[in-house]
Amino acid sequence: MKKNILIGVCGSIAAYKSAEIVREFKKKKWCVQVVMTEDSMQFTTPLTLAALSGRPVYSDMFEATHFQESHISISEFADIMLVAPATANIIGKIAGGICDDLLTCAVCAFKGPVVLAPAMNENMWNNRIVRGNVEKLKKFGYHFVSPEKGELASGKKGTGRLAQIAKIVSFVEKTVA
Ligand SMILES: Cc1cc2nc3c(=O)[nH]c(=O)nc-3n(C[C@H](O)[C@H](O)[C@H](O)COP(=O)(O)O)c2cc1C
Repeated sequence: MKKNILIGVCGSIAAYKSAEIVREFKKKKWCVQVVMTEDSMQFTTPLTLAALSGRPVYSDMFEATHFQESHISISEFADIMLVAPATANIIGKIAGGICDDLLTCAVCAFKGPVVLAPAMNENMWNNRIVRGNVEKLKKFGYHFVSPEKGELASGKKGTGRLAQIAKIVSFVEKTVA
């Protein structure tokens, strides 16, 4: 089952794991288009994700690309969208209907299933505004692969680690099937 997937990468310490996620879908012969937020580039590079996906990585909404009107056409390309890692910020922006970069515009314009895999500090994950945004998005049909308990970037134990990559990949496969 070959599919087209758009993978959104956000500015989380877990962003390095997006390289592994891209590889997993490429191994399955899926066509992978990566869209990075500007802040995600503090954590991983477009070069790495372009090399692994075999396609240029998009991030700048105003850059002329192979796509005409990239914020709309990249969402038409995809059968499913995965945002992994999803920051508290992107969850809040999507829940608020904010479209101020390529990734939030693409999510807003997309008619198919969207899967979000959050990763953040435990206090951020437990924040009532963040949880409210998650619940709001779930009600609108957005899918979540919840973060897991374990050692966080701070060295402390808590809930907020990006879910296991195998779990994210199989959830996406089931959701798009
Ligand atoms: C070292 C470091 C690690 C961070 N890790 C996370 C994280 O795991 N999850 C999160 O929601 N925000 C995290 N942040 C904060 C985000 O990078 C920040 O909210 C950023 O504006 C998110 O932008 P984006 O959602 O457009 O990618 C981190 C910030 C720093 C400096």
